Amino acid sequence: MFPTINGRQADHPVSGIFLERWSPRAFAPEAIPDDVLHTIFEASRWAPSATNIQPWHILFARQDTPDFARFLEVIYPRNARWAERASVLAFILSKKERIVQGESVPSLNRNHAFYAGAAWAYLALQSSILGWVAHAIGGFDQDAARQKLDISDDYHINIAVAIGRQGDKTMLPPDLQAREAPTTRHPISHFVSEGVFRKP
Ligand SMILES: Cc1cc2nc3c(=O)[nH]c(=O)nc-3n(C[C@H](O)[C@H](O)[C@H](O)COP(=O)(O)O)c2cc1C
Repeated sequence: MFPTINGRQADHPVSGIFLERWSPRAFAPEAIPDDVLHTIFEASRWAPSATNIQPWHILFARQDTPDFARFLEVIYPRNARWAERASVLAFILSKKERIVQGESVPSLNRNHAFYAGAAWAYLALQSSILGWVAHAIGGFDQDAARQKLDISDDYHINIAVAIGRQGDKTMLPPDLQAREAPTTRHPISHFVSEGVFRKP
């Protein structure tokens, strides 16, 4: 038998950290110590990218600050209603263009969001390893975020992230309480094909 953690059964002998990480919406009212937050960001630092360009940028705000209120304002209400209790709200940005060696004019880095995704995944796994949780939020107003967070046009705003300590689910509205559990995944046969591309 391979690991079963959080009710998630692996089909192959994967590290438990992948099953332990999930995305709760209930957050306890606990501030994240600086050293923990820095370690979470440090994990993102070590994400890989072509030519080691590292185009990601993390813009964050702590709970109970004017910045947090400003960040929360751009998150759609269906997410803000739970994300408002996070200890930290962050946005994962990525620089869209880069200068290719030998050229003088910047051009689109078509993988900028892919690298930012790796940085997010490292952040999320490190949070979980430390006993904290990170929940990605795609549901926010892009235009409002760019304006209110003063993010220049050369950066793409990929996702918001709510980071905190998992809390008791009874603090959530009933519809979210019902969904507050780890999910499972398709088996690898669903998304892996050898030699010839086969849709699931
Ligand atoms: C890029 C991205 C955007 C997401 N956006 C939202 C969102 O707007 N609201 C939400 O409640 N969850 C959001 N999620 C969380 C996903 O629903 C969740 O990761 C997925 O259901 C798998 O569950 P797990 O993270 O608990 O394993 C997002 C996740 C990712 C990676």
